Amino acid sequence: MSAGPGPSRTSTPTAPSTRVRFRGASARESRRVAHTRRSARRCTAPPAGEFVGGNFGDGRATGEKLGNPAADQAQGPFLNPVEQALPDAAALVTRVCSLKSEYWLLLRFVWGLAVCDDVDAAFAAIARSIARYEASREMSPFSSKFDRYLSGETELTDQEQRGLALFKGEAKCKNCHAIAGADQGGPPLFTDFTFANIGAPRNPENPYYDQPPAINPLGKAYVDLGLGGFLATRPEYAEYATVNEGKHRVPTLRNVDRRPRPSFTKAYGHNGYFKSLEELVHFYNTRAVLPQCAANDPGERVTCWPAPEVPRNLDVDVGDLGLTPAQEEDVVAFLRTLTDR
Ligand code: HEC
Repeated sequence: MSAGPGPSRTSTPTAPSTRVRFRGASARESRRVAHTRRSARRCTAPPAGEFVGGNFGDGRATGEKLGNPAADQAQGPFLNPVEQALPDAAALVTRVCSLKSEYWLLLRFVWGLAVCDDVDAAFAAIARSIARYEASREMSPFSSKFDRYLSGETELTDQEQRGLALFKGEAKCKNCHAIAGADQGGPPLFTDFTFANIGAPRNPENPYYDQPPAINPLGKAYVDLGLGGFLATRPEYAEYATVNEGKHRVPTLRNVDRRPRPSFTKAYGHNGYFKSLEELVHFYNTRAVLPQCAANDPGERVTCWPAPEVPRNLDVDVGDLGLTPAQEEDVVAFLRTLTDR
């Protein structure tokens, strides 16, 4: 997870006046880069002022550069000082095109013998290759239990069924993590490619706070403004920045429980505040009902929640779902059916 604003997160608008549509969608963790290949085909017009699509949590990989948000995003991590930190595109191209690289022949085979002659062209070819791989069956196999349930190959347990019903109904999850849409021809992607502020608290352990001033000049005072932060950097969208502060891309939920080993602790949300699916579903259920408390309060995450990182533009649909503890568990059981084999 990259926690700060570097070249690695975003979205692209090309619609009438205040309707802005970024070209595709994807995110900050590799898992979320997969399962987004059909995003660019999406063509519903969003309501006025709403942004749709784009890669990275703040939508800043808009697809404006390479015609594909996934490819725009793929260029980010190479040069991001908190990721691979290469000095420039030429440094990357030199490495990938070198005879010592396992890609030197592959790259020329796919993109032509002259691909390495021009740094920009080679950088674009590398990013497009990565985007294409991310969209491949290998990365996005759609082989989860839920997919097999949809195709009639398997049954869900009673608990998973109850979780699915809640997901689509009372728990309102599908309002953002869309299960199916008229514009989605294939398997559900569990995102509608919009942005929202669910009110995630600040994560005091976010390693970004400890980055040197050259990378994070604000230190512990840094606030991730998400989409609003990105829009503020673009004169044509700056007027929409304030109302989008704190909004992050709705991520896919596919493989949300995938982990290298069962004991591995994952971190959810844009800043990694949530450490389990149980905790996150409890948050969705109770954020607006339970009292606020300071970080490290003994009741934190169970009977109280710290203030949202950005307490503005909060989504009002989530936070008071009225689910019982057993229903929270049902929703989590359903989320676990979304892991690819
Ligand atoms: C208003 C839109 C909206 C609704 C409704 C919603 N979500 Fe989300 N969800 C989001 C956004 C936006 C994020 C990213 C938040 C962030 O990064 O801070 C997110 C993040 C998540 C994540 C973390 C994914 C990850 O990879 O870190 C999970 C799991 C999740 N939601 C499950 C659910 C479930 C289950 C429900 C129903 C109880 C639900 N969501 C309802 C918008 C929504």
